[in-house]
Amino acid sequence: MSTWCILLAAGSGTRLQAATAGRPKQFLELDGRPLYWRSALTLRTLPELAGLVFVAPAAHLPAMEEEIRRLWVQDALNLPWRIVAGGARRQDSVRHGLHALPDTCARVLIHDSARPFASAALVRRLLEAMDRGAAAVIPAIAVTDTVKEVEQHTVLRTLDRSRLRAVQTPQAFALPLLRQAHARAEAEGWEATDDASLVEALGEAVVIVPGEETNMKITTPQDLELLRQQTSPLLS
Ligand code: C5P
Repeated sequence: MSTWCILLAAGSGTRLQAATAGRPKQFLELDGRPLYWRSALTLRTLPELAGLVFVAPAAHLPAMEEEIRRLWVQDALNLPWRIVAGGARRQDSVRHGLHALPDTCARVLIHDSARPFASAALVRRLLEAMDRGAAAVIPAIAVTDTVKEVEQHTVLRTLDRSRLRAVQTPQAFALPLLRQAHARAEAEGWEATDDASLVEALGEAVVIVPGEETNMKITTPQDLELLRQQTSPLLS
C-alpha cells in the first residue's frame, strides 16, 4: 500500500506580505532552505513514504520546480516527486494535488507547508492509526484559550473547552475516501479549511491522534517574528 504526501505551498501568504517583502511565506528560508523544504526533509525519513507532490503557486511554479531539482540533488532525496499548480482556495490546491497522484497510491497525507515543524513521530502516529483500520486520521491538541462564539461584537455563547480540539496537518486519508470527499465538495459547493471537514461532511469517521504544540502554523507577521527570534541567524 503506497503512501504519498501532498505538500501545499500554493497560498499567497497575503497576511504575511508586509513582513516578507512580498515573497510568499513558503519561500522564506530557514537553515538556508525554503520553509516548505523542511517538511520534505522530515517526510523523507519515513520509510513508508513513496513520493511527494508539491503544490506551487501557478506564477512561481517554474522557479519552484527548478529550486526543488537543485535541493533534491543537494540533500540527496531519494524519492519520486511531482509538482502541480495550486488553485484559488486551499481545497482547490488539494484537488489539483490529488489529480497528480500515481495509480499505485492508496493513502495520502495532506500537509500545509506553513507548518514546517511537524515531526516524523507525528506522521508515524497518523500512519499507525491507519494501519489499525482508520480511513481518516488527524492530529489534534487541547485548546487552552477559552473560546466564545460571537456575532459582530457580541458574545453568543462560551464553548465547552474540554470538548474542543485545535487540529493540525499532516492529515492522513485512504485515497478513495478523500477523492470522494473532494468530488462531493465540488458537486455540492462545500467549502472547508481542512480536508477532514469534507470527510466529516460525508458522514465518515475522522480519528484524532495527539498533535504537537511545536507544529505551529506560520500565518501572521507575529508568527514570523517569533520564528525569527528563535532562529534569527537562520531565517533570511
Ligand atoms: O491559507 P492558509 O494559511 O490556511 O494555508 C494553509 C496551507 O495551504 C499553506 O501551506 C498554503 O500554502 C496552502 N494553500 C494552498 N493553496 C491555496 C491556499 C493555501 O496551497 N490556494
